[in-house]
This record gives sequence, C-alpha cells and structure tokens, in this order.
Amino acid sequence: MLDFSNITKKYTNNNIENLVLSNASIRISNSEINLITGNSGVGKSTLLNIMGCLIKPDKGKVSMHGVSHDLSNDNLSKFRIQLFSYLFQDFNLLPEFNVYENLMIPSYINKLNLKKTKLNIDKYMKYVDLDHLKLAYPSTLSHGEKQRVAMLRSLLGGKKIILADEPTGNLDEINTKLLLELIVNINKELGYTFVITSHDTSFKNISNNIFKIYNKKIDKIK
Ligand SMILES: Nc1ncnc2c1ncn2[C@@H]1O[C@H](COP(=O)(O)OP(=O)(O)O)[C@@H](O)[C@H]1O
Ligand SMILES: [Mg+2]
Repeated sequence: MLDFSNITKKYTNNNIENLVLSNASIRISNSEINLITGNSGVGKSTLLNIMGCLIKPDKGKVSMHGVSHDLSNDNLSKFRIQLFSYLFQDFNLLPEFNVYENLMIPSYINKLNLKKTKLNIDKYMKYVDLDHLKLAYPSTLSHGEKQRVAMLRSLLGGKKIILADEPTGNLDEINTKLLLELIVNINKELGYTFVITSHDTSFKNISNNIFKIYNKKIDKIK
C-alpha cells in the first residue's frame, strides 16, 4: 500500500499561479487496478507524475511500509528506480532498435540478469501475442502493437507498479479492448499494481478503485 497525503502542487506561468492540487490525498492498493479520472486539465498527469516521483510537489508525503517520506524534499530517485514502470500514451519505443532489443533495454539499464529477462520475455509473450514481431522495428508496427510492446517492456524492469498516463489515448476501439484485457490478465495472473489515468469510461469496469480529481482534491468514488 502507498499512502500519498496532503499533496499540493502549483505551477507558475508568467507570474500567474495555477494551483492544481491542494492537500489532496490518495491511497494506492497493491495488486489492484487503480483508476484516476477527472476532466481534462484537472491534474491527472500531474498527480501521476508526482506519485511516480517524476516531479516534486510543493508539499506532500508518501508513506510506505510505515515509513513516511517527504515528496517535496527527499531524494526520490531511489523509489523511481525501485518501484515504478511507466506506460505512456506515445509508447516511447526507441526507433533504432527492434522489438526484442526494445524489450531488453530496461534490463540493461537496471542491470538485471539478462538470461532471466530472456526467459521472462518468452513467458510473458503469450499475454501480448507479439512473437511474430520480435525482429520488427517500431516504425512498422500499428499503434496497438506498439502499446503492447510498451506494456510487455514495462513488465520486464523488475518493478511491480505500472503507472499509465492515458494509455488508450492513441488507440482505436478494438485495440483499447485488447489493452484492457491485457491489463486485467497481468493484474490477476502476475499481481501487478496499476495506476491509470484516463477519461475512457471503459476502464471503470475493470478498476478495483476509482478516484476523481475535482476542485483540487481527490475523491474516492469506488
Ligand atoms: N509543466 C507545466 N507547467 C505549467 N503548467 C502546467 C504544466 N503541466 C501541467 N500544467 C497545468 O496544470 C493543469 C493540470 O494539467 P494536467 O496534470 O496535465 O491535467 P490532466 O492530465 O488532467 O489533463 C493544467 O492547467 C495545465 O495547463
Ligand atoms: Mg493528462
């Protein structure tokens, strides 16, 4: 369980302050699918980036294993490296490398056992149906295929929490359905925790917990 509390974040543009989150709190349950909803511009991406320790809030704490850490001060790169995988709308595949090489990259970066990663690629391949595309380059893949490569890659970095910012933003209806099924299977069978931002209502059916950002706070609506 990750407890984020009293998160406050404002942006300042041309001396104009934009307060996005004010003393907002959210609890992320392990091995569950957690959905963050809310209107466009309300702060979903900001919240996800704060939770993933990609940006610092003005104020806020995270408590894990009973220990509290200050999100605005502490050096959080250790959490970023140990805990989180990121799945972004634009997939972030490296164009010079083929699918298999793209899948191996997190293991090189995180100095994981490469033999084990190769075994894991074979093991997880059944979830994504990409075996025939191992040697293909990202530019030749469809959006749906790219997203599934990105999803498979996020399973290989050794982290148990996957943060996904509008993961269906670039997908059509059929690929959205496939991605939802994939998330459900990965959650149920492999125990991964998901934190997903989306205004796609189809996520509501698969989510254990649903949060809505409204008026700079986070309400739990399921
Ligand atoms: N890097 C930034 N600098 C300044 N303002 C930002 C930045 N990122 C987001 N914002 C502003 O913060 C608000 C929330 O943005 P965002 O978190 O992207 O919302 P959402 O993901 O819900 O659409 C918006 O008003 C947006 O313009
Ligand atoms: Mg956003």
